[in-house]
Amino acid sequence: MPRALSRTWSRGRHLAARVLDASLEATIVASFSRVGAVLRRGTQDWPVVPSMEGRTVLVTGASSGIGRESALALARAGADLWITGRDEGRLEELAGRMRSQGTTVHTAALDVTDGALLDDLARRVSENSAGLFGIVHSAGALTHEYATSAQGVEMTVATHVLAPFRLTWRLAPLLRAARQATIVTVASGGMYTERFDLSRLEMTAGDYHGVKAYARAKRAQVLLAHEWSRRWARDGVRSYVMHPGWTDTPGLAASLPTFHRLGPLLRRVDEGADTAVWLASGAAGEAGTTTGIWLDRRPRGEYYLPWTRPRCSSRADGEDLWRWCERRSGFDASGARTP
Ligand SMILES: NC(=O)c1ccc[n+]([C@@H]2O[C@H](COP(=O)([O-])OP(=O)(O)OC[C@H]3O[C@@H](n4cnc5c(N)ncnc54)[C@H](OP(=O)(O)O)[C@@H]3O)[C@@H](O)[C@H]2O)c1
Repeated sequence: MPRALSRTWSRGRHLAARVLDASLEATIVASFSRVGAVLRRGTQDWPVVPSMEGRTVLVTGASSGIGRESALALARAGADLWITGRDEGRLEELAGRMRSQGTTVHTAALDVTDGALLDDLARRVSENSAGLFGIVHSAGALTHEYATSAQGVEMTVATHVLAPFRLTWRLAPLLRAARQATIVTVASGGMYTERFDLSRLEMTAGDYHGVKAYARAKRAQVLLAHEWSRRWARDGVRSYVMHPGWTDTPGLAASLPTFHRLGPLLRRVDEGADTAVWLASGAAGEAGTTTGIWLDRRPRGEYYLPWTRPRCSSRADGEDLWRWCERRSGFDASGARTP
């Protein structure tokens, strides 16, 4: 094919892929379901994850679902791993599988809502690694029953907001030492239904509603992820927040059994994890670090519904959330300086 014709053909294909992508995005259902994953992958450039030889990544929630799949994909790309989860048996089974393929893996069976255990994990990681190339925050659950952590924080907020905040705070010196590090937060499309409102973030036993609590915590994760980029970009730390669409995992089956009946419309777990892995590899560059939520390797808008937009600005919300996290983590009282 003559060069000019080939260029025109390639531009046309690229444009058609962009139009298809935008149409999927507009329909939401197609975008979040397996349809979006398959069509985007089939029509857009989808490079393999670059080599991660010599890079250490920590994955929370690696004992199941998206975290597990992300850890496996990162290991295949050559990364060394720290993997965490509550279920020690499933964690060790995964570690054994990766070790048999030559991966260096450390495990930590813990509940991320226990601050002391997170601090201990951060200490172990610091003692064993000179730098940390990435963190994937995948630990999470939608729970219909009200519960609180050992520190008395409502469990959804403790798991999705305070745990990533604390762990990342403790590991910030290691991320900086890596000079080029990535933080990936696995949020949820569920967050599109809620506006961020700090006064309604932590629900009480009286008003608890699992789906709302989850959506609010996931909305807060978006703000927190952007705060990390704002605060640490100059130190080479990039933070991305993504959502996996609707992915067939044990967690989805347990928390939303009716929704799980979508069956073949749900994404396969590798499709749900793909963007988290892509971002964790550092392949994405600077776009989508201080705004946007990623799906299928592209940053997408943060709002579908007008009433979910911030009252003042998302920057101000992010700063309020940060201070709240410091207070709720006890960092302000202990005089700990922001890393
Ligand atoms: N699947 C979807 O369609 C979907 C959609 C949107 C967002 N997400 C998000 O994707 C992430 C992964 O979910 P998944 O669907 O893969 O669910 P999953 O199969 O249940 O995996 C969840 C992981 O998080 C861990 N975890 C949960 N609470 C924890 C805690 N308090 N302490 C330590 N580890 C904890 C679990 O550990 P154990 O199993 O060892 O307890 C497990 O490894 C979550 O953040 C979820 O909100 C999923």
